[in-house]
Amino acid sequence: MATKPILSVSGVAKTFILHLREGARLPVVNGAGFDLYAGECVALGGPSGAGKSSLLKMVYGNYRVDDGAIRVRDGDEVVDVATAPPRRLIRLRDTTMGYVSQFLRVIPRVGARDVVAEPLIHDGVAPEEATKRAGELLARLNLPERLWALPPATFSGGEQQRVNIARGLIAHRPLLLMDEPTASLDAANRAVVVQLIEEKKRAGVAILGIFHDAEVREAVCDRVIDVTSFGQMAA
Ligand SMILES: Nc1ncnc2c1ncn2[C@@H]1O[C@H](COP(=O)(O)OP(=O)(O)O)[C@@H](O)[C@H]1O
Ligand SMILES: [Mg+2]
Repeated sequence: MATKPILSVSGVAKTFILHLREGARLPVVNGAGFDLYAGECVALGGPSGAGKSSLLKMVYGNYRVDDGAIRVRDGDEVVDVATAPPRRLIRLRDTTMGYVSQFLRVIPRVGARDVVAEPLIHDGVAPEEATKRAGELLARLNLPERLWALPPATFSGGEQQRVNIARGLIAHRPLLLMDEPTASLDAANRAVVVQLIEEKKRAGVAILGIFHDAEVREAVCDRVIDVTSFGQMAA
């Protein structure tokens, strides 16, 4: 194949050491390997506790990797997240890799629309333009305009999740990681998220996600990677 993967995971292993439990070892994944290409959406599948979120956090560089490589293409360079120095990882997140977490990390006193606009402003978009685009995205996600100026701390779970999705999707990143982005949404808003994901795919974005909702998964995902197939080493 002529095109190269944007993400290539190979031989990845991780075991949690539980220091509060006399150093008990909890193996999560071993020998995890797969490639992800521009414009495709791939789901991590498997039962609760299989290691899906842990794998996603390793790709984003939030969890240390014990063994193996997580190579991400960044323009002409390839960065191995497993060994990259922290500064290189931060730059990789600025240029290439976005993450939509399961829950919004609430920033005190910052209004919802500003929370959403912030990544664009960070990318160098003029604040006025960034704020306008944030409002458009929140409108698409049916977040009532009366909430836009309010900090999301007191929002409902579904409202917070929509702010979180808007914040995660507003800036362009060629590789997007999503952890259960629709868990607290009603059917109408799930459909909006499906549309937004389809638009990202058409723009060539590669998506690796956890989609517990089968309908959403079937609508957007091109394949499912079963995380349980990455055999867990004996403890
Ligand atoms: N930070 C952590 N420290 C210790 N154990 C963890 C940590 N994160 C996850 N685990 C454990 O690793 C296993 C996989 O968890 P997770 O990756 O969240 O699974 P999934 O997302 O597939 O439900 C679980 O047994 C979980 O308790
Ligand atoms: Mg999980």
